[in-house]
Amino acid sequence: MTRVKQLKRPLQLTNDGQLRHFLTIDGLSKTLLNNILNTAESFIIVGSKAVKNVPLLRGKTVVNLFFENSTRTRSTFELAAKRLSADVLNIDILTSSASKGESLLDTLRNLRAMQSDMFVIRHADSGAAHFIAAEVTPDVAIINAGDGHHSHPTQAMLDMLTIRRHKSNFDQLSVAIVGDIRHSRVARSQVQALKTLGCSDVRLIAPDTLMPPHASTLGVTTYRDLDQGLEGVDVVMVLRLQTERMTSAFLPSANEYYNFYGLTRKRLQRAKADVIIMHPGPINRGVEIESEVADGKHSMILNQVGYGIAIRMAVMSMVITGQACQSRETNYGCVD
Ligand code: NCD
Repeated sequence: MTRVKQLKRPLQLTNDGQLRHFLTIDGLSKTLLNNILNTAESFIIVGSKAVKNVPLLRGKTVVNLFFENSTRTRSTFELAAKRLSADVLNIDILTSSASKGESLLDTLRNLRAMQSDMFVIRHADSGAAHFIAAEVTPDVAIINAGDGHHSHPTQAMLDMLTIRRHKSNFDQLSVAIVGDIRHSRVARSQVQALKTLGCSDVRLIAPDTLMPPHASTLGVTTYRDLDQGLEGVDVVMVLRLQTERMTSAFLPSANEYYNFYGLTRKRLQRAKADVIIMHPGPINRGVEIESEVADGKHSMILNQVGYGIAIRMAVMSMVITGQACQSRETNYGCVD
């Protein structure tokens, strides 16, 4: 999967700049990101209605194709598609023919023969969603639900929605991303989204072994010392140690890591008094975050899950209908 670089930007946009697939934040404009956020805002209300769906994707078929484990992402994509009235098929990879050696593309071709309109794909290989998007016919949309350590664009957008709803303008904020940044597709997408939305103080905090080698090219400030990095921040985004992607020993032990990089109430005193704490999940209590912080009044961790449904509804409806809501006041009014 080495084709990410050549394919990423034009592939996910139509000639007039609308979303056709959703593969990466990289290369998307501030206007487009704001359109996604505004559209998501208009969908939040759907979840609190007695009848929790709208007819935007009625008659469309969405296939969830998860080659890696997932709890939140998979179930919120499913709920999002159902709230848009689509028919949803969840393929269990462990019991599918992929486990008998069928290639990703062959699996997809077979599912396509069933006239599916959209595939939501999570895969351990960086570039998998781009690869598939380059192969499908023009009437099929691909959404990247996480590819290797490359990109997780809907997670980054739900994080941006969380920040926008609970904080002020992005350009006024100091945001720290703490933990295993090197192996994190979430962190990559978060940095791209924060920079595009105008955040000038993005801080990456990690030991050298967990800092991406190209960090200095990202327009961020890097810190090895957690206390220093947390000084005066408005938002802290915590990441899990992604041991499944570590190819060698990157740390002495989880205990040692917690001593230096675990987010505790005491350490949080360095941040602003109204700091918000985020985490994409799954959280490992006592490894990257203290329970009191994960469950405390600053935590947005469960809010993020709810916003994930709205963001995924927004992205799915935008790639299928080619339209976004321009106004926060509209009630899923993107399509008449
Ligand atoms: C993240 C992922 O899968 O990349 N989780 C998620 O999508 N909710 C982060 C992680 O697994 O640590």
